[in-house]
Amino acid sequence: MTAIDHLDEVRARLARARKVFILTGAGVSAESGIPTFRGPEGYWKKHPPEQLASPEGFARDPKLVWEWYNYRRRLIAGCEPNAAHRAVAEIERRIAQFLLCTQNVDGLHQRAGSRNVVEIHGSIWRVRRADGTGPSVENRTIFEDTELPLRAADGALLRPDVVWFGETLPAEAFARVDAFLATGPVDLAFVIGTSAVFPYIIRWAAIPKHQGAMVVELNPSPSLPAELVTICWPHKAGDILPCLLERE
Ligand code: OAD
Repeated sequence: MTAIDHLDEVRARLARARKVFILTGAGVSAESGIPTFRGPEGYWKKHPPEQLASPEGFARDPKLVWEWYNYRRRLIAGCEPNAAHRAVAEIERRIAQFLLCTQNVDGLHQRAGSRNVVEIHGSIWRVRRADGTGPSVENRTIFEDTELPLRAADGALLRPDVVWFGETLPAEAFARVDAFLATGPVDLAFVIGTSAVFPYIIRWAAIPKHQGAMVVELNPSPSLPAELVTICWPHKAGDILPCLLERE
């Protein structure tokens, strides 16, 4: 095990912290066997995102899009939460005011025991009508390709309740993160396994930093602007987070 810089400092801050915010991306699920989006093995290397994750792509070929999401459902259903998901859930148990905002749609944080979770890009385990009417409903079926695209009883197209490129974020989820950050300063924030390509992700790292929080980025290829990061751990999440929770 390589030495982890500033581990004692982060442990001490965590021990005293009353309010902790965690932002995660695909990297936190990588050690569970779920591919990330960017990088050499990422989904977007093999598939154009506008084809598989945009309203236009869905309108053009809903079956293709559904097949991709169904493939990912099957993959995710066969994966387990890893040490990083479990550590995030344990941090929540220790902290009075806690929020986890994940860009992941896989539900692995919840399976590991996380409760205060905002799924800012939706969930692969929910569906809604593509025409924008009606509620989002849980649906955990792995389909046969012949059943796709999925349709409601009246024949209307259903779609995964995830956020696609060019779409706005779910307003309630967005407001929940903003409200958490607006009500008193965060003591400690972790940004884990995200390439932080979206302005709102950078903003949600910047707010705690400006409030005086210790901001820890955990990513083998760190991506946040250096001025937003107090401590950078260029490592895999599952190697590091459990060490944080070990008793000295
Ligand atoms: P990305 O695929 O863009 O980035 C994954 C990040 O995880 C990279 O920075 C990797 O270096 C890092 N990483 C890989 N393995 C890791 C590990 N074991 N521990 C820690 N970090 C690791 O995924 P996101 O940032 O989540 O949105 O992407 C954001 C959004 O873009 C996704 O939610 C998805 C995508 O397009 C939509 O589909 C709308």
